[in-house]
Amino acid sequence: MRIFLDTANVEHIRHGVRLGVVTGVTTNPSLVSKEGKVDYRKLVEEICAIVPGPVSTEVLGQDVKTMVTEAREIAKWADNVVVKIPASLEGVEATSVLAKENIKVNFTLCFTLNQALLAAEAGARFISPFVGRLDDIGEDGMSVVADIVEYLDYYQLPAQVIAASIRHPQHCLMAARVGAHIATVPYEVLLQMMRHPLTDIGIQRFRDDWNKTMGRGESL
Ligand code: G3P
Repeated sequence: MRIFLDTANVEHIRHGVRLGVVTGVTTNPSLVSKEGKVDYRKLVEEICAIVPGPVSTEVLGQDVKTMVTEAREIAKWADNVVVKIPASLEGVEATSVLAKENIKVNFTLCFTLNQALLAAEAGARFISPFVGRLDDIGEDGMSVVADIVEYLDYYQLPAQVIAASIRHPQHCLMAARVGAHIATVPYEVLLQMMRHPLTDIGIQRFRDDWNKTMGRGESL
């Protein structure tokens, strides 16, 4: 399973890419707004230059014509940009228009297998079920991810599933278990994925044992 960062924060993205594990980024209007009043195009272009893989960024329009116009514009910003289109009937229609023009679509705000089914038929390259938001209302977000993965696999459809709205490391484990192609994670979750108290205790114990016998040395 590939790891994308779910953020528009350039420093966090640089760190993730430096680690060698982040191969893509997803943003949305809320995440871009968190960075203050920015030049949207410049910010996305900067992120696209840092990241080796797909960078999803969302349209603001809600009718087909506006979504298609915005998506065509966004598609010019960088080769690795992907346009996020929300799960609505208008979004499905916009996705079919854009797919015919080879503009890559990430079908977002997806909460059901039926929405995913229509997105895949319309030609979306990525489908983003929002796990955390389903869990928030007492549904099982990960089972929707599992259903979509199974459906795409059964019919050998090329769309990839991005497990989104990831809230904690357990969500990443579960997404990998059900075969999501990608998990897009907040920066804090990326950091949490590596943390374990026994690792910290182990490193400290090795260092203490060494120092007791060999004397204090910071490196070889
Ligand atoms: O990738 C979608 C994500 O940004 C939504 O996450 O935590 O706002 O539900 P959240």
